[in-house]
Amino acid sequence: MKYSVVIPAAGQGKRMNAGRNKQFIMLEEKPIIVHTISVFQSDEYCEEIVLAVNEREHDEFRSLIQTHELTKVTQIVTGGKERQQSVYEGLKALDGDKVVLIHDGARPFFTHEVVRKAAQAAEYYDGAIVAVPVKDTIKQVDELEVKQTIDRSSLWAVQTPQAFRLSVIKEIHRWAELHQIVGTDDASLVEMNGRSVHVILGDYWNVKLTTPEDLIFARAILREKKESEM
Ligand code: CTP
Ligand code: MG
Repeated sequence: MKYSVVIPAAGQGKRMNAGRNKQFIMLEEKPIIVHTISVFQSDEYCEEIVLAVNEREHDEFRSLIQTHELTKVTQIVTGGKERQQSVYEGLKALDGDKVVLIHDGARPFFTHEVVRKAAQAAEYYDGAIVAVPVKDTIKQVDELEVKQTIDRSSLWAVQTPQAFRLSVIKEIHRWAELHQIVGTDDASLVEMNGRSVHVILGDYWNVKLTTPEDLIFARAILREKKESEM
């Protein structure tokens, strides 16, 4: 059940408002991206990591990888304007027909367990995603008027990792690019092709660090982890 990983890290982190790519924000003594890559680096089933980065940030990422001895990062590719393009550039750097995981650079709190479950499921389904049931009531709103309250029991909030067979997801990204289709995540492109996507129950720790208050949550998670290890 070995797998490769593509990590898109080529965004600008606009909503984080840090004045630079949020991947470099320090949590404890390490940048966010180093926390994320380290989980894969220490997973025995992870064979290879491809990182998609902004053209101007190659050197900075390369030096982080060297300093932190993230030896499983075999390639750093230049990402695109949209996340989907960055992922596709990463996929193109991989050969063969193995299982590939796609995981956001900005999501450092995931476990080996969830990674392995996703990788395993990709052997049987066209795709596998990690998700959690939504906790809030969700309403559809138009111009500040409620249109409807959506039945929450069937709603799940989707995270990464998402896992696929490399040949399937590469072909689907090629198709999406050709037809200029942008999906909200990689699995949505697979769904549009009428293929089956399996859901793995994740946990609420696996937040994507998106806005400044997420950093407060992130630092609290790290403190909690440290204390539970003592
Ligand atoms: N990403 C990417 N290439 C892009 C856009 C996003 O590789 N053109 C990556 C980000 O670096 C991040 C992940 O996709 O790891 C999830 O995206 P998001 O949280 O939206 O990050 P940003 O796009 O950087 O943030 P924002 O949308 O606030 O600018
Ligand atoms: Mg974005």
